[in-house]
Amino acid sequence: MIKKQFLTDISSELENLRQNGLYKSEYEIVSSQSSEIEIIQNNSKKKVLNFCANNYLGLANNQNLVDVAKKSLDDYGLGTASVRFICGTFDLHKKFEKTLAEFLGFEDVITFSSCFAANGGVFAALFDEQDAIISADLNHASLIDGIRLSKAARYFYKFDDMSDLEKKLQEAQKNKTRVIVTDGVFSMDGDIADLKSICDLAEKYDALVLVDDSHATGFIGENGRGTFEFCGVKGRVDILTSTLGKALGGAGGGFIASKKEIVEKLRNKARTYLFSNNIAPMVAATGIEILDMISKSKILIKKLADNTKFFREKMVAAGFDVRDKNGVHPVVPVMLHDAILASKFAKMMIEEEGIYVIAFSFPVVPKNEARIRVQISAAHEQEHLERAVAAFVKVGKKLGVIK
Ligand SMILES: Cc1ncc(COP(=O)(O)O)c(C=O)c1O
Repeated sequence: MIKKQFLTDISSELENLRQNGLYKSEYEIVSSQSSEIEIIQNNSKKKVLNFCANNYLGLANNQNLVDVAKKSLDDYGLGTASVRFICGTFDLHKKFEKTLAEFLGFEDVITFSSCFAANGGVFAALFDEQDAIISADLNHASLIDGIRLSKAARYFYKFDDMSDLEKKLQEAQKNKTRVIVTDGVFSMDGDIADLKSICDLAEKYDALVLVDDSHATGFIGENGRGTFEFCGVKGRVDILTSTLGKALGGAGGGFIASKKEIVEKLRNKARTYLFSNNIAPMVAATGIEILDMISKSKILIKKLADNTKFFREKMVAAGFDVRDKNGVHPVVPVMLHDAILASKFAKMMIEEEGIYVIAFSFPVVPKNEARIRVQISAAHEQEHLERAVAAFVKVGKKLGVIK
């Protein structure tokens, strides 16, 4: 039986989060995910322009993909009702993994129910007490948690400090295998990891490179292959993890791409694969279609890049402190530096201007780096971007952020 004290403690912890502006509330969306969505606000429906979904290519409600998903429901039903190795592998899973491996230029791919599951399973499966994991300090929570599950020695380097990384690689020379672990894109800032320097150091110190490309697969790099393409290090990243829950449709799912021996080992040793259901057949079916779309046409990748450039330039011209003015990533952090100001700004944007944006503050970002993280999508039209900039200017003036 649950003791009353246990619940009282939880309630006071939650109250604490509210008092400190750290409580996470959720708007309910009553439409499909797109550039224009309907949310519930004060018990009624409200149309807003959406600037916070990771719907990079705008595919989350693409009608062709919805039709492909419906057909897969007719052909395969809802799911496997089992983990992969018992009786949960459809031919669709195999076809999708093969197509994705070819798309990315890796020998093989293994899918997981999410990228969190992929990152949660990869380290304990591949690295043990003889090995060293050298991780960027700003890596995603799923990498941090996954690394904790491995018995390997852990080193942390400042994500953009290559001399720090080199120092940690030198310290880890005593270990049998070393792996450098980094986000391809640090999602709070839209910073792209310096994979060229990382791969050079990996070569010099005989280390593997693992990159989480959740905020890059499908749209970063000339052909949307990700940060390894953008940084010109194709073939030099050893293990790539990523999500299907952002640019590649948004339904959910994750994967790891690597050499065939590594993928085979993961199929036998990664606990989040062995003991958990995999992606729904609809995700595999739509995934195959999406990879085909991206391979055949760069229209969406180009539209996303153009939208990002347009929005960044207009915001800088309006006087906003956009982090990394030369940045190219569709994550655009508008720096406000103050947590209360950032949350007030976001609330006014949603409730008064109909622009759905989210404020981020400590501990998600460092203290004094509170911001609104704007997320640009290929689903946005220029008129959407102009409305968002106008709303930013209006609220920014009201709150004294710009003149
Ligand atoms: C860098 C990074 N890795 C992993 C994940 C987890 O992805 P998924 O939603 O597929 O679990 C996210 C999601 O926010 C992410 O940003």
